[in-house]
Formats: sequence, structure tokens, C-alpha cells
Amino acid sequence: MNQTVSETLKDYARRFDVRLAEFLPADDGASDLAQAVRYSALAPGKRLRPYLVSQCCTIAGGDVEQSYPAAAAIECVHVFSLIHDDLPAMDDDDLRRGQPTCHRRFSEATAILAGDALLTLAFELLVRHAQDAGLAVRLVREVSEAVGIGGMIGGQAADIAGQRRPASLERVRDIHARKTARLIEASCRVGAMIGASTGAAQRPNIMQTLAEYGRWLGSAFQITDDVLDVTATREAMGKAVRKDAAVGKQTYPACVGVEESRRAAREACARAVDALTALGPEADDLRALAGFVLERAG
Ligand code: IPE
Ligand code: IPE
Ligand code: MG
Ligand code: MG
Ligand code: MG
Repeated sequence: MNQTVSETLKDYARRFDVRLAEFLPADDGASDLAQAVRYSALAPGKRLRPYLVSQCCTIAGGDVEQSYPAAAAIECVHVFSLIHDDLPAMDDDDLRRGQPTCHRRFSEATAILAGDALLTLAFELLVRHAQDAGLAVRLVREVSEAVGIGGMIGGQAADIAGQRRPASLERVRDIHARKTARLIEASCRVGAMIGASTGAAQRPNIMQTLAEYGRWLGSAFQITDDVLDVTATREAMGKAVRKDAAVGKQTYPACVGVEESRRAAREACARAVDALTALGPEADDLRALAGFVLERAG
């Protein structure tokens, strides 16, 4: 694992988690719902997507402080996707981020509603903290397109439907692009939108550059997730492993094997880095992140 990037991410996560905790509903002890939302959202995640929002915001000319509400919004969407992904009707998992899944710790009804609450909170945060109404509309449009039928939710539906079909690379690529890469691309685009709207200097093509980086990084990220399901341990991942083949998931290793999957992930990372060619040292953290995504062990 690339120790330097891993430490940078952990430092970022420490700062980000303080802000995230403030954006979440307070646990007033009155119902399980707020408790479940905080339980899942504040569990130790890598915070890769918020980190991308903040990095892309600063590269586009903004300030990291301005990026936190949108970074939290994207993390809320992501946690919603994890809670629902783990439900018995979907991947039926008991462990997430090293602790019992939301429906295991609380109840299925509470887990469904916690996911709904997090998705709704995401849009509330985007709108409430946007600099102006024009930016709010652009952010909501971007995130709703990334999450909806053309994005993550449609990808999750294709992932589930794919369990009844023979594995095909064409299907896997489509599933990866929608269920994972689209939200990672949106993290980059949202950061760039905020940075460009508040920064002094407008950088030409910054949106296209960072969006292309995000698409390739997202592809590499999900290929690696598929590989780690085969090669990593439950302890390192904080979630079940060796499950995808058992339930007939459409994965990269199911189509081309582990070695070729690793090669495909390397190629996707190389393309992510290539996308940043026009940028200088200010994009070095994003370049390093591509290496981390490839080498991560959890
Ligand atoms: C897990 O995402 C779901 C996938 C898209 C593979 P992460 O691996 O980023 O999960 P956390 O946020 O670190 O728990
Ligand atoms: C899930 O993909 C992607 C999401 C949108 C949550 P996986 O089902 O492979 O994610 P894990 O392995 O459970 O984290
Ligand atoms: Mg899944
Ligand atoms: Mg899953
Ligand atoms: Mg997986």
C-alpha cells in the first residue's frame, strides 16, 4: 500500500469527519432513525469521494472549507448506497466498515429509512450551503443524474439482474460505470463546480479534465473492489469476501480472471493520470490517489 497517500487520506478523514458529524441529524435518543444514520455514516470509511470533492474544489480555484458541505452530501449518497446494497433483498451482508450492517444492528425497516434519510439529506446540504441559487441548481442536477436510473441506482439494478445471466465484459463495464464510477466522477465535478464558482481564476477545461479523471479512477476502483473480493481478507476489508462468485455476480475476475483484472485496473489508473496531463503539481495528490486505488488493501 502507498503509505503516504494512505496517511493523507486518514488526515483528511479526521478533519472531514468532524464536519460530517455536524451535518448529520442529532441523536436525540427519541428514535432509532437518527442513531442509525450516524452509526453508518460515521463508521470508518475511506472518505475517498469527499476527498475528491475537496481536492477538485481547490484545484479549480476554491477553498477546502467551501467544499465540506458538498463533500458530506456525496458521502451521504454513498452511505445510502452501502446501507441498501447490504440489505437482504440485495447483497445480504452482515458486516460493513468492520461493524454489523445497518439492518443487522437496527432493523430492516430502519435501514431502509436511514438510507432514504441520507439521500434526502444530501440534497438538503447541497442546496442549503450553495453560494448562490445557480450553483445549487447545477449541483443538484449533477448529483441527481449521477445517482438516478442513469447512474448508481440503475447500476445497482443491473448488478442484481446480472446475477441471473452469464458473465460478460460488456455487462460488467456497464455495471461498473453506473454503480460506482458515475458517483466518483460526480465527486470530481461537484468539487470543480464549487471551486470554479468561488475561485478567482477560471481554468479552461477544468471540468472535463477532472470528470475524465474521475471516470477512469472509478472504473479502476470497482475493478479493484472485485479483485479484492477474491484476494483480500474480511478483516482487511471490513466486509465479507469471496461472495461475488458464490452468488454469480457480474465481476471483472469472473470474465477475465484476477491477473487480467489487475492489468485492466492498472490501465484505467494510467488513463486517470493521463487525463491530468494539462495540470501541474497542484494535481499531484490526485495522481498519487490513482496509485492508492490500485494498491489499496482495504
Ligand atoms: C464500497 O466503497 C462500495 C464500492 C463502490 C465498491 P468504498 O470502498 O469506498 O467504501 P468505504 O466508504 O471506504 O466504506
Ligand atoms: C456496490 O458494489 C456499489 C454500490 C453502489 C454500493 P459492491 O456490492 O461490490 O460493493 P461492496 O463490495 O458490497 O462494498
Ligand atoms: Mg452490490
Ligand atoms: Mg455489496
Ligand atoms: Mg464488492
